[in-house]
Amino acid sequence: MEKLVIEGGKPLHGRVKISGAKNAALPLIAASLLAPGIHVLHNVPDLRDTRTILTLLESLGLSWERDGSTLRIDGSGLKYSEASYDLVKTMRASVLVLGPLLARLGKAKVSLPGGCAIGARPINFHLKGLEQMGVQCDLEQGYVDASIAGRLQGGRIYFDVPSVGGTENLLMAAALAEGLTIIKNAAREPEIGNLIDMLNSMGAKIKGKDSDRLEIMGVEKLTAAENRIIPDRIEAGTYAIAVAAAGGDAIIEDCEPHHLPSLVEKLQMAGIDVEIGDTFLRIRSKGIQQPIKAVDVTTMPYPGYPTDLQAQFMALMTCSEGVCVVHETIFENRFMHVAELQRMGASIQIDGRTAMVKGLVGKTLTGAPVMATDLRASSSLVIAGLVANGRTDISRIYHLERGYEDIVGKLSGLGAVVWKENE
Ligand code: EPU
Repeated sequence: MEKLVIEGGKPLHGRVKISGAKNAALPLIAASLLAPGIHVLHNVPDLRDTRTILTLLESLGLSWERDGSTLRIDGSGLKYSEASYDLVKTMRASVLVLGPLLARLGKAKVSLPGGCAIGARPINFHLKGLEQMGVQCDLEQGYVDASIAGRLQGGRIYFDVPSVGGTENLLMAAALAEGLTIIKNAAREPEIGNLIDMLNSMGAKIKGKDSDRLEIMGVEKLTAAENRIIPDRIEAGTYAIAVAAAGGDAIIEDCEPHHLPSLVEKLQMAGIDVEIGDTFLRIRSKGIQQPIKAVDVTTMPYPGYPTDLQAQFMALMTCSEGVCVVHETIFENRFMHVAELQRMGASIQIDGRTAMVKGLVGKTLTGAPVMATDLRASSSLVIAGLVANGRTDISRIYHLERGYEDIVGKLSGLGAVVWKENE
């Protein structure tokens, strides 16, 4: 197993290019199950998770090839309908094949993902929505065995809370259903807009992009098309917070700043200089010399503050000049980074889903051996390592490799002293 080593305390300068979004690439790759022919996807990040979903597609009979960041997926070979536990347990987004398989083959057997480090993460909304569309869903031996005789039927679906994966799965199913499907209280994340654009380019009839009410008039068939994955707003946000924390002057390019409204505001409130371009963010910060103001954060569905940037912002707040409250409303167990940040000298108290962070006021964290527990917790430890005095060793970096393309190369390009080592 590999670990990441960081010699902290160096400001970050220069430019970093943002890759395509993991959380858009996964549903768009799954959408290629919906039609035969060659689907072309540009700006696809090469990550552990994108490789996993491509392996899953292969196990269903599809073939694909990659040329740089362009993927060509042939949707013609689809013949199997089972997503095995071995694949789903390594990546819960594998459940995104459920809707497309049902739409195209009328049946799907998909392993239930089970809990993960950040929470229980059930898929009951996905299943309830599919049942509204006439699907029979049975749970057997850890699998959802779902089927429908004939075409899916348009349905009326209401989410108790907006679910990103649920909205994506049902959009893909509804695209090929008979009649109209309406999804109310749908998630509005930009990745969903990216999926809607892809489905519409394939011949789907979906209205309501960027709103919480989606109307899908089902069509009989879809055709393969060419699409582009949007920039990864969470990767962009992670680098923005890293520069704010470590200090420096860096341009985060090839991103969509308007996908990060809440983060930009929080950084500005913390006293960080943020310049917003059409496709770039420029962050200027003196790090702990600033001083960094303490700013409260509550995670919310888009356009609220993203849960996927909560851990990173907390790392920044550990060096602030005051006390702030971080409230996590999306996942029930997303403070796994706290104990590791405490090992580096951070002062944080947790009470349920709320963490109170007391800034170190002009002082900084100290390097330490720490353990990555999930993707975003890992990136908060990277930020902490960049800020800290001395050496930080982050073990289990396979978590990071699920969602950050070439993180060592990108950070080194900004002047960070960082490398990988065998544990
Ligand atoms: N939920 C249910 N039942 C469901 C579905 C969701 O109770 O059937 C709950 C979840 O347990 C959670 C909330 O609803 O409390 C929202 O979950 P959602 O379905 O929106 O999350 P997801 O689709 O499983 C995606 C991202 C996550 C990101 C969340 C929230 C992908 C592949 N994953 O997960 O990304 O945190 O939305 O924005 O798009 C990450 O990239 O590190 C990551 C975890």
